[in-house]
Amino acid sequence: MDNRPIGVFDSGLGGLSAVKELQKLLPDEHIVYFGDTGRVPYGTKSYETIKRYAEQDVKFLQSFDVKAVLAACGTVSAVALEELKQKFSIPLYGVVDDAASKAMKETKTGIIAVAGTEATIGSGIFERKLSKSGLSRYIGVACPLFVSLVECGFYKEDDQVAYEVCERYLGFLKNAGVDTLILGCTHFPILAPVISKVLPDVKLINPSYEAAVKLKETLEREGLLSGKKDNKVEYFVSDQPIKFANVANIFIGHDIEAKMIDIEKV
Ligand code: DGL
Repeated sequence: MDNRPIGVFDSGLGGLSAVKELQKLLPDEHIVYFGDTGRVPYGTKSYETIKRYAEQDVKFLQSFDVKAVLAACGTVSAVALEELKQKFSIPLYGVVDDAASKAMKETKTGIIAVAGTEATIGSGIFERKLSKSGLSRYIGVACPLFVSLVECGFYKEDDQVAYEVCERYLGFLKNAGVDTLILGCTHFPILAPVISKVLPDVKLINPSYEAAVKLKETLEREGLLSGKKDNKVEYFVSDQPIKFANVANIFIGHDIEAKMIDIEKV
């Protein structure tokens, strides 16, 4: 048993899609969440910058004596995770591998698309992982505007602006034989109801859910689950905590409070 918290981070609100899944699967765990709202988006930045930000994010969570850290960010998982693993002794998990494995299990046509940030799609990580497992065709689509839609709260099922943007980026997949779409950025599951309206026949893979399942299995196997009911989530952000909390409240389904920290001083 291990009563220390689990650290979760993302560039902003996207990682809340992982918090939501973790709360369902691991209701007794204490979670410390960091959203780097002062520096969002990550997915349009250089790899060097993303790596530097990610290192500071992990250092901040490390100060809570966390037992594991989930990089609930497709961009960090694609670009920085391997280096982070070398720099830190805390067990670090990402959101790429399990989403790729799940997509391979689900596809019947062997044609899988991945929607992600520019950095994630540009890194080629999903293409490499899926090709190793025998995929017939891969289609990567960078959808940078999705992050802003979510950060601005434009993600409800009936949101016309969100629908138009989803149609613009992903509409062409309707005629491409794709039966499975990996939402390769953790902001994107928040838009899933809108994406499903554009692609009603396509199975959506939620990387946050797949990562949460894996983390649960790992903690169980290693005897690291919390021994007490300590289901609080503490939220920290690097800018505009009230704005973050207002949008997060709607997504999480209850009121949350976020504290502001200076991530550059970590
Ligand atoms: N939610 C993140 C991801 O999974 C970051 C998006 C961004 O900041 O560009 O990629």
